[in-house]
Order: sequence, then C-alpha cells, then structure tokens
Amino acid sequence: MTAPGMALEAVGKRYGSAPALVDFSMEVQPGSFTVLLGPSGSGKSTLLRCIAGIEQLSQGSIRIGEQLVGSERVHVPPERRHLAMVFQEYALWPHMTAAANVGFSLRRSSLGRKEVRTRVSQMLERVGLAGFEDRYPGDLSGGEQQRVALARALVSKPGLVLFDEPLSSLDADLRERLRIEISTLTREAGATAVYITHDQGEAFALADRVGVLGGGRLAQYGTAEQVYDQPSSPFVARFTGLAGELAGTVQFGPDGSPGVRVHGQVVPGRAAGASPPVHGRPARVLVRPSAVTIVRREGGEDGEDGATGDISASPDRPRTTVMPGVVVDVAFRGRGYDHVLAVPGGNLLMGVFDVCRHGRGTGVALELRRDGCLIFAEDDSAVPVDSGVATPSGIPTQSGIPTQSGVDAAPGSTEAAGAAGAAGAADRRVLRMAVPPDGARTTRVPRAARYTFDG
Ligand SMILES: Nc1ncnc2c1ncn2[C@@H]1O[C@H](COP(=O)(O)OP(=O)(O)O)[C@@H](O)[C@H]1O
Ligand SMILES: [Mg+2]
Repeated sequence: MTAPGMALEAVGKRYGSAPALVDFSMEVQPGSFTVLLGPSGSGKSTLLRCIAGIEQLSQGSIRIGEQLVGSERVHVPPERRHLAMVFQEYALWPHMTAAANVGFSLRRSSLGRKEVRTRVSQMLERVGLAGFEDRYPGDLSGGEQQRVALARALVSKPGLVLFDEPLSSLDADLRERLRIEISTLTREAGATAVYITHDQGEAFALADRVGVLGGGRLAQYGTAEQVYDQPSSPFVARFTGLAGELAGTVQFGPDGSPGVRVHGQVVPGRAAGASPPVHGRPARVLVRPSAVTIVRREGGEDGEDGATGDISASPDRPRTTVMPGVVVDVAFRGRGYDHVLAVPGGNLLMGVFDVCRHGRGTGVALELRRDGCLIFAEDDSAVPVDSGVATPSGIPTQSGIPTQSGVDAAPGSTEAAGAAGAAGAADRRVLRMAVPPDGARTTRVPRAARYTFDG
C-alpha cells in the first residue's frame, strides 16, 4: 500500500487523573521518517500506543491517511490500522521460530503457504538473517532478535511502522549498525515511520523531522537542523545537547547584536526563545558544545597571556568570546578528547572537543562562537515544560541531557497481533527502571569553585 500521512489533533490521554498527553497536535507527511525525542516519562510510549490503537484517546483525534482511527468515541482496533510495531524488548513469540514469527501476520492473510515461505525468507535475507529461519528467539542474540522483529514489521508491507526505542537494549556498536539498517530498510519499504527515543544522537541521525516531547506536550517539531539551531525553549536546548550555561544580564553590542554580561564581560550570542532579550534583564546563555574551541594553552606558543585573560569579545573576531578555563576532566574519544572545563563564576563547560589532550588542571583559553551561544531571557528559563525533568534553579544544567531516572512503561498489548506480536510479554515487564539517558554525560564533577582565575 502507499504510505499514509497522519494527523494528530489536540490529542489528550489520561491515566486516571494523571495526564500523560496534553493537547498534542502534529502532522506527519506520507513516507516520512519522524522521530519523537523526549526524556523518560514524557509520554512517548503513550503516544505511540495511542497511534497503534493499544490505548484509547481521552481527547482529540488521530487520522491515519483519510481514516479517523481514534477519538473519544471512535476506536479502530490495532489490526485494522495497517501498521506494524517494533519494540525495545523485541517482543517475539518465544515458542515460534524466526520464520514463524516473521510470517505470523502473513499466515493470517489470504496468501498461500509457499508464497508466505518465500516472502519470509526474502525478508530474513534483507535483514541479514538468511538461513536463520528455524532458529528460536532464545538462540538468537539481541541484535538478531531485533532484526527478526524488524523483518516481522516490514514483511506485511504496512503503511505505517512504529518504533518504540528499538535500539535501547543493544550494545553501542550494534546500535549504530542496526540504526542504519532500520533507516535504510524502512525507507526502501516506502512506509511512513514514527520512531521514539530518548537519545538525541539517534533522533538527529534518523529523522526527516524531529518532535521534542516534554511533559506530554510537543515542545518543538521541525527538522533536526531547525531544532538544534533554533531550539524553542531552554528545555529543548538542554535536551538536545549543551556544553553548559552562563547566567548574567542582557547587554546589546554597538551594532545592536545581543550579548549577556557574565562576570563583568559580554558573551555575544543569538536571541532564542519566546521572549526577546531586554537590555539589563537577567538572561542565560546556553552553550552548544560545537560553539566552544580551545584556542590556546596556558603559556602556549600562540598565547601571549596564556589563559589568564578576562572574558571579552575578541577584538579581531567580534563574533567570538575568549574566556579562560581550567581543565577539570579529560576523556579520550578516539578521534580526540572531550574536556570538562571550569570557567569563571563556578560554571562548567562539558564535552569540549579537541584533537589534543589538555591534562587536568591545565589553564586554557576558550573561544565561544556566537552562533552556538543561545540567549534565553530568564523568564523563558522559568517556563516549566514539566516533564518531571528537574532543571534545578540556580544550578546550571551542565549536561544537555537531564539526569532523570523514572519508570518507563514498556509498550504492547496482546491484541496488536501481527503488528505487535508477542508484545503482551513486554507488557508484563511494565515496571522497569529506565536507563538514564546518558550516564557518562551526567557524571558529577568537582565543584568549579576550586579553580581560581587570576587575570
Ligand atoms: N498504563 C499506565 N498506567 C498509568 N500510568 C501510565 C501508564 N503508562 C504510562 N503511564 C504514565 O504516563 C506517563 C508517560 O509514560 P510513557 O508514555 O511510558 O513515557 P515515555 O515512553 O516517554 O517514557 C508517565 O508518567 C507514566 O508513568
Ligand atoms: Mg517509553
């Protein structure tokens, strides 16, 4: 079938009195790959289950193609929505072979046995599992099981494929490979895809369009570039990756460009968010890691004054700020090193990349590029996008990814048969702790106040 578009209008979903989705509206283009990104508990699985028909809406409506499939009154069952689903925990039938799992929905169709067998083998071959027909899920690795699940989803040529964090249970290396396969095979199949994840890297790599969820609401919806370059709120900026935050007051440059006065010096940036910066008002610079470069080392050849200079717009490069920093931590990343740097005011900048290693305690000079320094009025920072994501006031969120562990409901219902397969098994594992979005990036580092700047 040709891929359908989808329209969600003011969708609301409550569990008892607790809202999981609030006034959620979104349009998905036919044949597009949409990724919904959000922290644990933000309503991603609930949304996917509403689209699949595993949950009934409390409010609003969902159309798939021309068909109204869900509203307060209408509820088309999952098996009549022409969709397939892939889950984090694979949700294969353990008592069925790989071939039987993949062919499950086809056997209930009008296709002959031989045709089913041929299609199943072809599909298994496409996911790299030729010859695995007779294996049981218990005799397959996690990655192989997820490939079977992908084959099962695509074999019936569904118009819409839904993915609920399908890579989250896999090792890093495998995750990357399977991500590429999911992207390629789903696009080849011509299906419309809706994919949910808490991993911003995964979202940006896969998506034609990214929707960012917070507290059951759609905080922003656009291309990866739009979301990264023009985050609509501090919440979106934080969740899509920051080196750190600097608080101060708004000050405009002679050319009218905005900046924030931080510890006596001005950091130029770009106005972001709903409220424009107002001169003299409190504001916050949210710094993308890509905006920070280590330009010289204390006493280095090209640094006359080493790292001891004040923060200031560098006179030769008006779009940048030069700021002193002290290396707090350094991590080898293969292509180079990620640094954590303490900067004046007790702030930290994390994930600052350099091909060279700067050891702990080294004084350096940093350059901050205006285009990656996003200025949000403090009023904006205060706007709660309440997803249970704590953004402690006063303490800058150093990582782009909030530390939050919560209960992540596993998806599924027995009756999304063919589409959801043995998701009922997943449902029984409903209460499991979510993996923190990115443990490494939320590690506590020593207080920056220990490092002094005399300049
Ligand atoms: N079956 C359920 N009963 C009650 N509350 C639920 C149920 N499923 C999810 N929730 C709640 O709804 C909110 C959103 O959950 P979920 O959609 O699973 O988020 P995510 O997939 O983004 O982690 C959470 O607060 C969660 O505890
Ligand atoms: Mg979930």
